[in-house]
Amino acid sequence: MANGFESFVLNTGAKIPSLGLGTWQADPGLVGQAIAAAVKIGYRHIDCAQIYGNEKEIGVVLKNLFEEGVVKREELFITSKLWCKDHAPEDVPEALNRTLSDLQLDYVNLYLIHWPVRLKKESSTLSCENLIPTDIPSTWRALEALFDSGKARAIGVSNFSTKKLGDLLKIARIPPAVNQVECHPSWQQNKLREFCKSKGVHLSGYSPLGSPSSLKSDILKHPILNMVAKELGKTPAQVALRWGIQMGQSVLPKSTNEGRIRENFKVFDWSIPDELFTKFSEIEQARLLKGASFVHETLSEYKTFEELWDGEI
Ligand code: A2P
Repeated sequence: MANGFESFVLNTGAKIPSLGLGTWQADPGLVGQAIAAAVKIGYRHIDCAQIYGNEKEIGVVLKNLFEEGVVKREELFITSKLWCKDHAPEDVPEALNRTLSDLQLDYVNLYLIHWPVRLKKESSTLSCENLIPTDIPSTWRALEALFDSGKARAIGVSNFSTKKLGDLLKIARIPPAVNQVECHPSWQQNKLREFCKSKGVHLSGYSPLGSPSSLKSDILKHPILNMVAKELGKTPAQVALRWGIQMGQSVLPKSTNEGRIRENFKVFDWSIPDELFTKFSEIEQARLLKGASFVHETLSEYKTFEELWDGEI
């Protein structure tokens, strides 16, 4: 790791490692082993969320890693996210307390509003009947209080369009440090990235491999990615991750397979040269994760995908 891309600096002054292990759809029973393997390989950034349903198992593994002296808490960057049914300001501190208790930590490095979407508190499913209008300013003020308390060392958002991020920046006392969004060579987020850069908000990319199995995407088979991989003697996954890091975003590939966790970490001692890097602009663009559960003609504040993403679709 020696080419200056190991981490990025947030607007809080803290460093965020440029590669993190994603844990969405990392099944309980598998996620613990994956995290232990990843930390031993050298990962220092883990992306969690309450709704992923695996924070308890992650907490047990982290505790063991600390006790065994494999890594120290202060060497890790741990993110978690506020789920949509906890947006009411009085529910926000409780939600973070639950996450901290599950993760067996006394602070997270980053706490994000998971979606610009609100569900009734009692809702157990993601159905449209449970949607209620958001009040992002009041939720954000509750996150600011968590930042003040030190339980969240940075705060931010996820799945926010350029417009929604801009609206938040207008009212924030503490500006969001991060917007975590879908980002990979087939959904490059150029408009959002430029806006984030101009405002000092770090862009973090989830599904940086296009989530090949769950979203049935073929990004890793794309001819340009494969051509670059062949030229450089790397795998398409490594090229997709390295592209993201060179674009300036942190990347959060999910894997529960030790071999692939190792493969995905080997992205620091080489780079994509300019003449190959420019080829990525030729890749056709399509958002994979549209948030279909959050859009409804009558039951949602977002009647269409256009409204949820403010045209970035
Ligand atoms: P697995 O957990 O079996 O490794 P994303 O991070 O874009 O959402 O993608 C996650 C998906 O990609 C998971 O299904 C994961 O499966 C798979 N995956 C992770 N790393 C690689 C890799 N290096 N090559 C191919 N598929 C990968």
